[in-house]
Amino acid sequence: MQAKDLVQLAEQFGSPLYVYDAAKIQSQYKRLTDAFSKVEKLRINYAMKALSNVAILQLLRECGSCLDAVSIQEVQLGLHAGYSPDQIFFTPNGVSLEEIEEVSAMGVQINIDNLSILEQFGTKHPNVPVCIRINPHVMAGGNANISVGHIDSKFGISVHQLPHLVRIVENTKMKIVGIHMHTGSDILDIEVFLYAAEILFDAARSFKELEFLDFGSGFKVPYKKDDIETDIEELGNKLSKRFNAFCKEYGKDLTLIFEPGKFLVSEAGYFLAKVNVVKQTTSTVFAGIDSGFNHLIRPMFYGSQHHIENISHPKGKERFYSVVGYICETDTFANNRRISEINEGDILCFKNAGAYCFSMASNYNSRYKPAEALWLNGEGHLIRAQETFEDLLKNQIPLPSLVASE
Ligand SMILES: Cc1ncc(COP(=O)(O)O)c(C=O)c1O
Repeated sequence: MQAKDLVQLAEQFGSPLYVYDAAKIQSQYKRLTDAFSKVEKLRINYAMKALSNVAILQLLRECGSCLDAVSIQEVQLGLHAGYSPDQIFFTPNGVSLEEIEEVSAMGVQINIDNLSILEQFGTKHPNVPVCIRINPHVMAGGNANISVGHIDSKFGISVHQLPHLVRIVENTKMKIVGIHMHTGSDILDIEVFLYAAEILFDAARSFKELEFLDFGSGFKVPYKKDDIETDIEELGNKLSKRFNAFCKEYGKDLTLIFEPGKFLVSEAGYFLAKVNVVKQTTSTVFAGIDSGFNHLIRPMFYGSQHHIENISHPKGKERFYSVVGYICETDTFANNRRISEINEGDILCFKNAGAYCFSMASNYNSRYKPAEALWLNGEGHLIRAQETFEDLLKNQIPLPSLVASE
């Protein structure tokens, strides 16, 4: 899709607006499955926390994807989008035993990430097959908030606790069908990932009834020209060989699972916002847009650098701008970025806005969450309307006594 299509969608559906390019999602899915074509049984569980619009879930289902859900509500959304329970994995962190039991009763594969719940669940439901999340204590890279493999991390069962884990499994007689790891987002070095995979293989040797190994995700995507990205083809080549050799040793064709979020949807997303005001101060030129970190929190939360283009006037002379939002606290999308000359009313386009963007949006400052559109077969489809004032009031309950006394 081209910049002119984005401008036209902003005119048609208003701003701010999220737009997703279906063709990019489809091609990323194919790229990943092609990279692992030498693995007999491959399963992709799309990490729907990245972007959970039902239309996106439907699109990925058509590609052949399954789902990775982290809350019972995500499971329900997945079912609503047409996935069957056996196409959904539940890989939560720190949720209650009751929630795990409820999801398990729906027929969804559960993944348990701590010994306490494992023991309780195994004692009550020894016949339900379970997957276990191991923490290999390998750092993938990226922002501290998304690095989950380190020794102090709250995620998974430490690989050093494997003897305790095996004791629980033996005592409860539960069936372990899968082992899972997720080293965190932004894998920079494939060798580090392969090292973590070896730890998973090692752990797998302790369980005799496995059906799959889940390597999580964390594939890094480029955010700007010449940015580092995970070399999926190289990873596919090296990990497939190692995985196939392990299956031979284990004596069974296990399923290799990945659960990518960012890789599938990040680059497919564009966030469009209109410039409300250009404000020149003594040191900086600010471009203030009709949005803020309520709609796109990643720059403020993770320090992520989304490339920004002025798609209304892409050929203008470049100047330096700080792009800021309208939230009543520091709300900066970019500092001193080179962007084609900006006029009030121009539409700015933020790239890599598919993953963890809309799904992290809030109503802070009592603003509406924006609309979302899907660009499919050369046409824009509204897949979520912008919220309205009724949405802000929904579920609010004014105090009856005060209302009555007025
Ligand atoms: C357990 C788990 N799996 C998969 C993902 C998806 O990671 P990414 O979006 O980097 O592919 C995450 C991200 O937080 C995760 O925590």
